[in-house]
Amino acid sequence: MRASQGAPAFPNRFGRRIPTQVQTRLIPATDKGIRTAAALLTGGDLVAIPTETVYGLAGDARSAMAVARIFEAKGRPSFNPLIVHVPDIATAQHYGTWSDTAQRLSDAFWPGPLTLVLPLRARCGLPALVTAGQGSVALRIPAHPAARALLRVFGGPLAAPSANPSGRISPTRPAHVMAGLGGRIAAILDGGACGVGVESTIIGLTGTPTLLRPGGLQAERIEQVIGASLASLADSSAITAPGQMSSHYAPGAPVRLNADAAAPGEVLLGFGPTAGATLNLSSSGDLTEAAANLFEYLHLLDQEAKPIAVAPIPDTGLGQAINDRLRRAAAPR
Ligand code: TXA
Ligand code: MG
Repeated sequence: MRASQGAPAFPNRFGRRIPTQVQTRLIPATDKGIRTAAALLTGGDLVAIPTETVYGLAGDARSAMAVARIFEAKGRPSFNPLIVHVPDIATAQHYGTWSDTAQRLSDAFWPGPLTLVLPLRARCGLPALVTAGQGSVALRIPAHPAARALLRVFGGPLAAPSANPSGRISPTRPAHVMAGLGGRIAAILDGGACGVGVESTIIGLTGTPTLLRPGGLQAERIEQVIGASLASLADSSAITAPGQMSSHYAPGAPVRLNADAAAPGEVLLGFGPTAGATLNLSSSGDLTEAAANLFEYLHLLDQEAKPIAVAPIPDTGLGQAINDRLRRAAAPR
């Protein structure tokens, strides 16, 4: 299939015209195809992959740049945390703090349409952008044979949101992915139609087990295994649903946006050529690099315990998501 060559640039829902320059390859899920897909991912490219629920837009979860490219390809106006797909339980344990409940649920339902949100393990090697700077990580072992084979050959964790442009329906066939993201990603691994067809069920295990998103695995089956009812988001029992609070993930110090220079006592987060920047998100003005650095740099500046001034960031492409997060950081609290 010829993907996108000659396809016109198309406006996303924010009216920005996204150039369609890449020719998206459709790769069969043979041994050779899986090696090709793994090599693209190792090189930092994005590959849409079949899972038993929906197609995911996969990138190396250990690479902040690959993760930034995922947000860029989806055209999302904000950063939300991504599900990290892993080949086995040992890898899941490397990233998330394990518990009895995690053990029981993973024994019962992995590989399968269940995502567990666990406390993030410190210094586990995931960039903060994957978890949107939160102290928790969403993990899942998918059941689709092509996804499992790819995870084994790739040998690492894959961050993968559903492979649709922001605001559109999740794709369950390669043709859906091609229609939505063709021209914006390196390849689609063709694993046919997805069996489950709806996203995974997400269970939060950072406190009381909580149903964060109903999905392909019935909540009743989960309750049977843990021997208790699940809390729901409506119970509002100190759940940190990503992006709900406007001052979500704010640094301790005040944040001042669109600053031309640092005022006395402030640290300065630069973008593009910024004189006197304490740290620069991207001195060349590259928004993908800026997105990749955003959460790490906010953390680092937060440790200075000084007010943070932030240089203006253009509100186009990934700049929208960067500005969304910066506005939350600067919101009164
Ligand atoms: O079936 C699925 O789950 C598919 C396939 C590709 O695995 N993936 C998927 O990803 O639906 P996505 O990004 O479209 O939805 C992931 C959801 C988001 O609503 C996100 O907010 C939530 O998971 N999530 C991720 N990490 C989280 C965390 N640390 N805490 C709470 N929610 C989290
Ligand atoms: Mg989605």
